[in-house]
Amino acid sequence: MVLIESFDDPREAELAEAFMADGYVIIDVDDRPRLDAYRHEIVKLVCRHLDCDLPADETAFLDSIHERVAVVDVNALRLFVFEQLNRTAWARPSYLSLARSAVDRIVGNELAMQNKVNVSIQMPNDVTSVLPVHADPWSAETPYEVVEWLPLVDVYDTKAMFILPPEHNRTVRAAMSDLPDGGKSLDLFKMYEDKFRWVSVAYGQVLVFSPLLLHGNVMNEVPETRWSLNTRLTGLFTPYTSNEKCLGRFYWPATVKIMSRIGMNFKAPTGFDG
Ligand SMILES: [Fe+2]
Repeated sequence: MVLIESFDDPREAELAEAFMADGYVIIDVDDRPRLDAYRHEIVKLVCRHLDCDLPADETAFLDSIHERVAVVDVNALRLFVFEQLNRTAWARPSYLSLARSAVDRIVGNELAMQNKVNVSIQMPNDVTSVLPVHADPWSAETPYEVVEWLPLVDVYDTKAMFILPPEHNRTVRAAMSDLPDGGKSLDLFKMYEDKFRWVSVAYGQVLVFSPLLLHGNVMNEVPETRWSLNTRLTGLFTPYTSNEKCLGRFYWPATVKIMSRIGMNFKAPTGFDG
């Protein structure tokens, strides 16, 4: 039949179903040459900071960075890459474009994006880079956002991050509000240790996940360094829950349609209100 009885796009519904069940999707990046170029620029920044030659094998170079950099020096390297990357005009647009097909279907096609692309480096046995279990809205981020999380090397086991699947995450709030201190004393990692799912992502893929779900990492026991980037995306007109993390500060308009620009600039004529 030519006529349709549903607003749903079947391709979108398939992705939505997977996202609802797992809390995330992993897809091949939309543009592999762009990913390779993006990583190459990051490798150039790393080499500039370390004053070394460009490597022939970028994967091996990043995976083994702990052989060149001490734990005490890794944050200076991370900050250098973060600051230089975010100075470029291409950092955010190119980053979004790598997962645009999934983000458009999961979030929308008029987007606000975090003002920076974050850089994370997790060297083997480095306790200082452990990110304890949390959900991003606990730090005032909008619950309407997704995280676009991109590894620059293959990540798996403790080199990866973990996410609590929605079926278990639903019990967290109840468990926390039953406690007199609001759940601050709960060791959430211990509580859900066997329920967390380690999310393996290969270089060439991108993870899009809901940070409403508990997530984090433990000490990386894989003898390779994890390099990953992340940023947040939400619908442009979704509610923002704090002044600290609102549109214009933490999130910046990214893909604004022409009618929204016209509507935002409309000024009602005076004298028509009786
Ligand atoms: Fe997070």
